[in-house]
Amino acid sequence: MKKTIIKGTGRYLPSRLVTNEDLSRWMDTSNEWIIQRTGIEQRYWVPEEGGVGASDLGFEASKIAMSRAGWEPEDIDLIIFATLSPDLFFPGSGCLLAHKLGLSSTPALDIRQQCTGFLYGMATADAYIRSSLAKRVLLVGAEVHSTGLDISTRGRDVAVIFGDGAAAVCIERMETDIKAGILASCVHADGSLAESLMTVAPASRENPRLDEKMLKEGKHFPTMDGRNIFKNAVRRLPEVAGEALNKAGISLDSVDLFIPHQANLRINQAFAKSMDLPESKVYNNIQRYGNTTAASIPLALDEAIEKGLLGAGSTVMFLGLGAGVTWGAVLYRFPA
Ligand code: UT7
Repeated sequence: MKKTIIKGTGRYLPSRLVTNEDLSRWMDTSNEWIIQRTGIEQRYWVPEEGGVGASDLGFEASKIAMSRAGWEPEDIDLIIFATLSPDLFFPGSGCLLAHKLGLSSTPALDIRQQCTGFLYGMATADAYIRSSLAKRVLLVGAEVHSTGLDISTRGRDVAVIFGDGAAAVCIERMETDIKAGILASCVHADGSLAESLMTVAPASRENPRLDEKMLKEGKHFPTMDGRNIFKNAVRRLPEVAGEALNKAGISLDSVDLFIPHQANLRINQAFAKSMDLPESKVYNNIQRYGNTTAASIPLALDEAIEKGLLGAGSTVMFLGLGAGVTWGAVLYRFPA
């Protein structure tokens, strides 16, 4: 049977370290508030002068993942690029990444599913692989949030959360009868909550898409009803975890590690509590990177592999909820 296997992972963080103390100088916030409400201690941002887009970070992460997988760019059948912060309004960052990799006709698609971009990307890669449309898929999650944040007290609830970063995963078809690869994927969306976390402009429904007034009102910055998103995450994550376990026909105990999206340490602690899991089974690195949205899950995966928390035969669940709102879970088992 065709199975969808992770062959290599890689991550890349820009070098500008931004601490909570730095943010406290730019807006009315404090290290204590940020740590207590989110768990975040620091994050990395691209250089202030600009010039670095999501595809640049994605390119660096891809090179690492591909060298670990033993891939050359020509081996790639499909690029899936998950981001909410594309280099350009259009075309998608996947096309830009393909060009940076030296490819001139490999298909590339962008996934605009925010915090669940990696989950939707895994589900899409799995569908392509199992239907024989592709044998090797490069899935990238990359974000440059920092150039789009309101670094003033007006934007403090959102600005303190986000970090820039990228991670890439080389996904390959394997013919095997062992129970390995993507065991189940479940993805969902509820657009009735779209306004709970959004960036309004530039917008096709506005004419012009962005003007002086909108800029002055900060319509180009993200806004969030944090409490509503928080409540939804705490409800949906255990629900979708159960759905994925049922679909795969495996028990909670057989999952070695849960890698949730890194939106807020408190959300992940609430998830662990409601599933009756020891906190050691739920991987967190938001303390060091902040919320890197589509990059957060693969970034954590790359670290967990590096730390030896995952390896041959291990079972991991990826899950998350974010803007859309969208939510989902993917269960994956490494080949033994
Ligand atoms: O990845 C995308 C998905 N996003 C999420 O999952 C985010 C989910 N939500 C959250 O993580 C939390 O709701 C936040 C961290 C965004 C906010 O934490 P909260 O505990 O829900 O705080 P709050 O929004 O209820 O605000 C509490 C107070 C308010 O002041 P008053 O009205 O009580 O006087 C805010 O104005 O904290 C104030 N506040 C801040 N104070 C210092 C909001 N942001 C800040 C800040 N520094 N950065």
